[in-house]
This record gives sequence, C-alpha cells and structure tokens, in this order.
Amino acid sequence: MGSPTVVVILGIETSCDETAAAIVRHDGEVLSSVVSSQAALHARYGGVVPEIASRRHLELVTPVVRQALEEAQTTFGEISRLAVTQGPGLVGALLVGLSAAKGMAWASRKPLTPVDHLEGHVASLYLGPEPLEPPFLCLLASGGHTLLLSIREHGRSERLGTTLDDAAGEAFDKGARLLGLGYPGGSEIDRLGREGDRDAFLFPVARVPGLDFSFSGLKTALLYKIRELGEGEMERRRPDLAASYQHAIVRALTARLHEAAERTGLERLAVVGGVSANSALRAALSSARFAPLHLCTDNAAMIASAARYVEPLPYPSYLGLDAYASVA
Ligand code: KG4
Ligand code: ZN
Repeated sequence: MGSPTVVVILGIETSCDETAAAIVRHDGEVLSSVVSSQAALHARYGGVVPEIASRRHLELVTPVVRQALEEAQTTFGEISRLAVTQGPGLVGALLVGLSAAKGMAWASRKPLTPVDHLEGHVASLYLGPEPLEPPFLCLLASGGHTLLLSIREHGRSERLGTTLDDAAGEAFDKGARLLGLGYPGGSEIDRLGREGDRDAFLFPVARVPGLDFSFSGLKTALLYKIRELGEGEMERRRPDLAASYQHAIVRALTARLHEAAERTGLERLAVVGGVSANSALRAALSSARFAPLHLCTDNAAMIASAARYVEPLPYPSYLGLDAYASVA
C-alpha cells in the first residue's frame, strides 16, 4: 500500500449482534472485511439479548479491528480516517463501537465519520469491483427495517414506503421460530425452503395503501396453519411451509418494488440488507442489483463505504457524539 495520498478508511460496526471491522480504500476497493457473528451465543434465547451483545462487542472489537488490519496487510498508522455506525440499533451495542472508534481516532488524532446504519446498507452497492451509481430505486430489507428508497445521489435518499408493523427480516425470524427452526431464522427458512414446494400453501399478503408493507398478518396465518396441521404433520411438511411462507414474503417485496418503479420512473432496482441474501428473492428479481452475499448482512465495509461520501469530523470534534436507537 504505502502511498500517503491514498485515503484508507477503517470502518467499525456493532449495531446488533455482529462485531465487524473493515478496511476500505477511497476508490471503493475492500481490502478486508471481518465479521464476527455472535449468533450462536444468542441462539439459545431465540433472539438477540442486548446486554449479552454489548459485553461480547467489548471483548471482540479490538481483536476484530486487529484482524481487519492484518488481512488488509496494513497498519493502524496507514489508516487515514475512521468510520463507525452511530445508529439505528441497540444503544448499548452501538456505544461499544462508537467509544472504541472515538478512542482510536482521538489517540491518533485522526478524523472520524459517524455513519447511519441504513445509509451503510445502501452504500454496500457502491463498493468495487462493479459499483452501482445513483439514481436507482432501493429496497432495504433487514431485521429491523423494510424501506423503499429513491436514491438520487450518494448519501441522500427519499423514503417512499416502510413497514407498518414487522420488518421483512423479522417476519422471517418469527416464522422460523414458529417452525421450530434456529436463530437467525432467515437463512434457515432459505435453506429449508429449497427442499419444499412454494405453492403447497397459500399465505395471504396484506395489501396496505401506498407503498407501505405489512407482515404481521402473515405470521399469524402461519401460526394458524401450524395449529391446523398438528405437530407431526407440521414436522413432515416443514420444507413446504418454509417455501410457501418465504414465497409470500418475496411476493410482497417484489410487488411493491415494481409498483414503486412504475410510480417513480426509476428503472434500475437494487436490494440491500440481510434479507437481500435470500436466494428466492434474488431469483425473483434477477434484473435487480444485489450486493455480494457477504455484504448483504451486517458488515463494516458498507459503513466505511458510506463514509466516503461525507466530510469527516476533524479531531477532536467527534468526542461528544452519541448513539441513537431509532430512525429520526
Ligand atoms: O441487515 P441485517 O444483517 O441486520 C439488521 O440490520 O437487521 O439483517 C438481518 C436479517 C435477519 O432478520 C435475518 O433473518 C435476515 O436478515 N436474513 C435473511 C437471510 N439471511 C439473513 N432472510 C432471508 N433469507 C436469508 N438468506
Ligand atoms: Zn443491518
């Protein structure tokens, strides 16, 4: 690496149950992206336990940063600036990453950029080797959010629709729990659904006005179907139930995305967030842009990527930054 003119960003992400650090060059090349998932730790509780997440981030953040530097074959001295997720997410978890980033930036007098996690997901599309450029229509579907965004330029988005109740990833996770599958549920349903018939059961998708989404009725429909089938039959038909349930979510997401495209005239479609790793969704939207799988779920490369389009805060003005739990 060596050249001091090349801007190199260290990104840190700790908003939920992934401790992540990445080294990204200003031209969008990802030099390393390390994600340490705590999923196994939270699995026995069926979801993320905030207090456990914070404690684990505290143990992992330094080793994960060190590993990211090693894998990028660089040193902390060669880092031009830092980027860190400020929100939305679990406040205790966010504070670990934010404090670590502040400490590292302050000690080395480097600038720091606070990044919105959702902007980060969108910025996963801007990374090399084939970055997508605005304008485009973006579906952001994660464990906490389901948003339709019109992206006219880097770092700026207009919200066209959102979920009125559960997020798409939450619907996957809750459905998986009803089906007796592990946590996190999305990838489990995805895996099991491949062995099932997606037309075996018809689950209703609520139609709400405008470009919004609603997934809570779907989960109830699955619950009633499972009760109707009984334990033994549910186990036997689990792949069909997973495939059909997944198909209902995919239908809801793709229908809204196409409607939004028609309304806005935006022709290029993109999907980001953890749910964009779903194989059925990727197959249903073959003309849309998706980030590579490892950049769909939470990671720090996307956080460093988003920071490329924002003026960083100079030393030491970032020391007063606070984390935020929800979208403003
Ligand atoms: O973006 P993300 O990693 O974290 C949040 O910002 O929430 O998204 C996590 C969500 C979880 O609900 C998880 O079940 C879902 O993404 N997910 C999937 C798949 N992989 C992760 N959902 C469906 N199919 C997948 N393959
Ligand atoms: Zn996320």
